[in-house]
Amino acid sequence: MNDSLRPVGVIDSGVGGISVLKKAVEIMPNEDFIYYGDSLNAPYGTKSTEEIRDLTFAVTEKLRAMGIKALCVACNTATAAAIKDLRAVYTDMPVIGIEPAVKPAALSTKGGTIIVMATPMTIRQHKFNDLLKTYDKDARIIPLPCEGLMEMVENWSDDKTPLMEYFREKLGPVLQDDTETIVLGCTHYPFIKKELREFLGDRDIALIDGSEGTARQIKRRLAEEGLLRDCSHEGKVTILNSSEDPKMIDISRKLFDMEIDEL
Ligand code: DGL
Repeated sequence: MNDSLRPVGVIDSGVGGISVLKKAVEIMPNEDFIYYGDSLNAPYGTKSTEEIRDLTFAVTEKLRAMGIKALCVACNTATAAAIKDLRAVYTDMPVIGIEPAVKPAALSTKGGTIIVMATPMTIRQHKFNDLLKTYDKDARIIPLPCEGLMEMVENWSDDKTPLMEYFREKLGPVLQDDTETIVLGCTHYPFIKKELREFLGDRDIALIDGSEGTARQIKRRLAEEGLLRDCSHEGKVTILNSSEDPKMIDISRKLFDMEIDEL
């Protein structure tokens, strides 16, 4: 089989990576994608580096067995913990990761404060601290570990009261008059942008995430390796989850169809 005909694998600790998958499908409508959410083992963000690495390798192996031509780790936490090792082991395919969008936030700063919401694990990792060291000369950056927040997306509910309460308790104390940007440094968070906007009221704060940059990087890497599919094919998306609860696939589909760009 011509390698370019094989699907692209996209993985996350749960349903969050669907925010990256959505962008990837938009940018590469001719590709086939297999998305695998590891909701059974979520959250990753409170586990040790070794545990996250092992889980990420196990999921990658599953998708390798399905014949993927490239892998996108659509999880900031798994990228921070495992991307180096994945690239060292899987030298026969492009491996693309995601990191909190600190760079674009810092490069476009108007002198205000930037808050980075991410999992405790992402914030503890060297990779994130190196990122901060590179950009905190240009901007005032406040990392905000958000334990428990990805679970609110995993356990999707139409009652947003607990979410608003979370924002009040967690974000309320760190918001400043000069806060200009909030970086959504976990792929689950773009799905709660609407509620975050509501919490922020009429404050003029930009919400940014790394999904588009990551999707573009997948396309770049596929092109470099001659793995892009030609445009005669209509791409297809398969969504899988390690949880046996059928609810997780329903939530995944709902998130895949959700409009989040304009928020
Ligand atoms: N979507 C993951 C991320 O981007 C969530 C991590 C978790 O499982 O805690 O970090």
